[in-house]
Amino acid sequence: MKGIILAGGHGTRLYPLTANTSKQLLPVYDKPMIYYPLSTLMLSGIREIALISTPRDLPDFQKLLGDGSQWGLKIEFIVQDYPKGLADAFILGENFIGKSKVCLILGDNIFYGNLRLTDVVNNFDGGALIFGYAVKDPERYGILEFNDQGKVKNIIEKPKNPKSRYAIPGLYYYDNRVIRLAKELKPSSRGEIEITDLNLKYLESKNLEVKILGRGVAWLDTGTSDSLEEASSFIKSVEKRQSFKIGCPEEIALRMKFIDIDMFDLLLKEMPSSDYSNYLKLVSEEIHFNKGNRERGIVNLQI
Ligand code: DAU
Repeated sequence: MKGIILAGGHGTRLYPLTANTSKQLLPVYDKPMIYYPLSTLMLSGIREIALISTPRDLPDFQKLLGDGSQWGLKIEFIVQDYPKGLADAFILGENFIGKSKVCLILGDNIFYGNLRLTDVVNNFDGGALIFGYAVKDPERYGILEFNDQGKVKNIIEKPKNPKSRYAIPGLYYYDNRVIRLAKELKPSSRGEIEITDLNLKYLESKNLEVKILGRGVAWLDTGTSDSLEEASSFIKSVEKRQSFKIGCPEEIALRMKFIDIDMFDLLLKEMPSSDYSNYLKLVSEEIHFNKGNRERGIVNLQI
């Protein structure tokens, strides 16, 4: 499966923070926002990734992420000239997707918790798979509507009178039909080709699966100054309490075995001293310690 991160748009709701930089490059506590959705794709086991952004911001993403090889990834960059809608990702990404299945994640969505994404990817055998997540402000999102048997019967984008509090987070899995279906979409009243209309096509043909995310998962979006600040506080609290950092591509690459410890140590050597690199040093020490233990025949703790 291939992955697309949609990281364009004008970020107008966050102006002036976004006056000369991309929203998805703003800090969420101790890392650029884009690290979090990238980490989610990596934790799904996805290594071929396309990042879509604006002509203005794409070069900055390229500078930050490179071609991904340092993390055992292959990252391509695709320009979106103007925000035509989320479903445009599949039209712009047609060549990149090729004959593959594809996962789309929005560049401003942050997931934390045990989503078992490698299982999701391994068990995905076609159609579309989306998630539902209970929120307090359903009018801001695509919202699920259920029938009496608890089955999804409709999806409504930003409803004025929401029929449920289950929002659809910005993480979607599709089979290869998505390219053709995206091309058939007509722009909505706000002039965009909507991901909700795409999901409705899968729902109508009975090819849509919806998984409800429970209490063990945190889904944060960063669409407003308040939610951006809340996301930073959340990451800070968890990182301070747990002594693990969330969303470090180097660490995930190592633990997912996309790179080995030698490559990890090389990356570390090139990093300036910071809280971030100090954390990665601890990760390296742990791996070397476990390696030493293995060589001495001692069982390691699995983290
Ligand atoms: O966050 C989840 C929600 O995302 C879903 O519940 C909604 O169904 C879905 O429509 C979307 O709603 P938003 O109003 O939050 O979408 P927004 O227009 O803010 O775009 C989300 C991100 O995608 C944002 O960071 C900008 C980027 N984007 C957006 C569009 C329309 C692009 O890169 N290109 C685009 O054409």
